[in-house]
Amino acid sequence: MKYIFLLSGDYIGLGKEETLSLFDVRKSKLVDRLLVFELDNGMKSLKESSQRLALTKNIYKLLFECGVNELPEAIKNFGWNSVYRDNFCLRIHDFNKTIDKINSNTRTTSESKGYRGNPFINVLARRSDMAGKRRRALESAEGGLKKDKHSKKIYSEKDLAGYIWRSLKNPKANLKNPRTKIELFFVDNKAYCGLLIEELHEDFESRKAHLRPFPHPSSLNPKVARALVNITGIKENEVLLDPFCGTGGFLIEAGLMKIKVIGDDINKIMVNGCIKNLKHFKIKNYKIKRKNALDINDRFDCVVTDLPYGLNSNALLKYEKDWKMQRLNLKIQKKDFYKNLEKFYLKFLKNLRKKLKKKAVIVFPHYVDYKKILKISKFKIEKEFSNYVHRSLTRKIVKVS
Ligand SMILES: C[S@@+](CC[C@H](N)C(=O)[O-])C[C@H]1O[C@@H](n2cnc3c(N)ncnc32)[C@H](O)[C@@H]1O
Repeated sequence: MKYIFLLSGDYIGLGKEETLSLFDVRKSKLVDRLLVFELDNGMKSLKESSQRLALTKNIYKLLFECGVNELPEAIKNFGWNSVYRDNFCLRIHDFNKTIDKINSNTRTTSESKGYRGNPFINVLARRSDMAGKRRRALESAEGGLKKDKHSKKIYSEKDLAGYIWRSLKNPKANLKNPRTKIELFFVDNKAYCGLLIEELHEDFESRKAHLRPFPHPSSLNPKVARALVNITGIKENEVLLDPFCGTGGFLIEAGLMKIKVIGDDINKIMVNGCIKNLKHFKIKNYKIKRKNALDINDRFDCVVTDLPYGLNSNALLKYEKDWKMQRLNLKIQKKDFYKNLEKFYLKFLKNLRKKLKKKAVIVFPHYVDYKKILKISKFKIEKEFSNYVHRSLTRKIVKVS
């Protein structure tokens, strides 16, 4: 069975990688915000993993795809009785931005010619405005098929719904709360028809950094944090480490997905704050301790971390065995800044390479040569993404193994 995942418009690349990392997918294609792929054990693996997704909005069964011009025939030929339950509604999403314009008109038109008794028309017919004139002007003899000024074929929801209506044994419409929600996506000159099977409504808003008991501006948006945890591909019974855990942004998301989490931070205030945050979200399976990230000595399945962006009083410039004895170098010369930071990252990554069992997702500031450092520390870059924060910071998100 083929599925369509409608990705969040603001992080399409990350959303694609998140989905592909969680599902066992052989072949996929991304068309605009639609990720289309086949799943072998479809519903079972969908149920297990879809609730983890941060950057997918809706999931659909792909009913068919066709050229825009072939749409009326494809709709007429589809066996709607096999997917129809109780009542239905058809919605169109035009990623080409031509059809929505027409639909906003058709939703307020008073026209009802064609499909007598079709409640799509009855509901729409209550409203009347000038838009009807425009629509009539566009109407062609082809029953719902119109052309815009660029001679592109465009369709209205009610006309297409009419084809479905007529093919059903016992048709009922429900525009507010339909049991059978059919959605059509137009991308370039193709149409993708999906049956909605899952709407994802995870409440990321309430977990935003400033709303946690221990807030800190350095913590990533929880939606992105969850996606990065998922991009490691970690499974429920595995162990995830964040060696620079700060306030616990990644650990909260992983903990909520029942992953066992371990967090280290060199700063005692952060350690206590992180524990406070994890308790607030009722996460139980965690170990948080004050520790220098350069001292990782256990092995971990996966790692996700947002590296410190500067070496300040929280970071140790010169690593020695007993980090407690370190004297903090607070006088960082500007010219040495990047060099020191890269040296620190290199030391961390070389050690991490020996301890990592599977994959890591590491967030770097753009101003370091992360490709070089990763290469020297023998990591393979699998994927990388950019996340613009402000003029002087773009995060480079890198998946490595
Ligand atoms: C960018 S912040 C991490 C933010 C975190 N992801 C969150 O959600 O709050 C980097 C963290 O690294 C910690 N840190 C800096 N140097 C460290 C070191 N040598 N070992 C462990 N932690 C360190 C800092 O105290 C800071 O909390």
